[in-house]
Amino acid sequence: MWPRGARCAPEVRDVVRSGAGDVAGAVGRTFSFGADGGRVSRVHHDEVPSDLWTERQAEGYDDPGDPRFSPQLLERTTRFLAELAEGGRALEFAIGTGRVAIPLQQRGLEVSGIEYSPAMADRLRRKTTEIPVVIGDMATTRADGEFSLVYLVFNTIGNLYTQEAQVACFRNAARHLRPGGRFVVEVGVPALRRLPPGQDAVPFAVTEQHLGFDTYDLVTQRAVSHHYSRQEDGSYRYSPHNFRYVWPSELDLMAQLAGFAPEARYADWDRAPFTADSDSHVSVWRLPG
Ligand SMILES: C[S@@+](CC[C@H](N)C(=O)[O-])C[C@H]1O[C@@H](n2cnc3c(N)ncnc32)[C@H](O)[C@@H]1O
Repeated sequence: MWPRGARCAPEVRDVVRSGAGDVAGAVGRTFSFGADGGRVSRVHHDEVPSDLWTERQAEGYDDPGDPRFSPQLLERTTRFLAELAEGGRALEFAIGTGRVAIPLQQRGLEVSGIEYSPAMADRLRRKTTEIPVVIGDMATTRADGEFSLVYLVFNTIGNLYTQEAQVACFRNAARHLRPGGRFVVEVGVPALRRLPPGQDAVPFAVTEQHLGFDTYDLVTQRAVSHHYSRQEDGSYRYSPHNFRYVWPSELDLMAQLAGFAPEARYADWDRAPFTADSDSHVSVWRLPG
């Protein structure tokens, strides 16, 4: 899921939508960008789980001006993750261009990734070849080896559009972990308390530069973040982003189905208490030791 209020989201004219045939050409392959520069093997996908992030989105993703790239935030995020990895190997689901993985690796951890978009993974590989990435769906794809920590940040669990796919993602995390290993998810709390009766849209940014609002389908739990971003010529570019919203308690049940026990839930990477007013959470589940 692209975050609410963020500047770069998949654009409707860029996104390769549904049609397994469209996406299969891009993700029907596994590229593993190891230190050797790129083993290639093959994975198979029966269905398309997510919108594919294209070359254009990958190009605009790394933005030092975006608060998500702030060194302070990344310092707190990677400190938290490194503590939970306890010196073991870490695997990032939907690793993207390495926003978190690279500073985590710089803390001395061995980090790998799974990523659906070859374009995003290619950006990462241009920055480092020390982080192996398998191209595929995080709900089904297997990365080599056993890990102490699997993590999935920046609301990206929502990029899986069905409950079934999200449950599969938890099971896939469990499959990669050693006994006692942890799965960490960072995701927003659905803003349904801000929906007046009869209305399905919640604004999150209302400025001349950026108008953004989420629309919720309360039956399917599917939602869309709509972004209208002002361009240099004064026009506005429309960028919708699809996601499935999910409750913390629903995630706990998914974790339980995958064999995890809840360990902690915080409001942020500083371990602030999660409360009824928290608009996002960092949750930790653990396999039995
Ligand atoms: C908001 S970006 C987050 C990237 C990175 N984790 C970060 O925090 O900067 C979302 C990423 O999820 C990837 N993605 C979406 N659906 C996926 C799936 N089913 N399996 C693996 N990666 C997926 C996208 O290609 C994109 O790189």
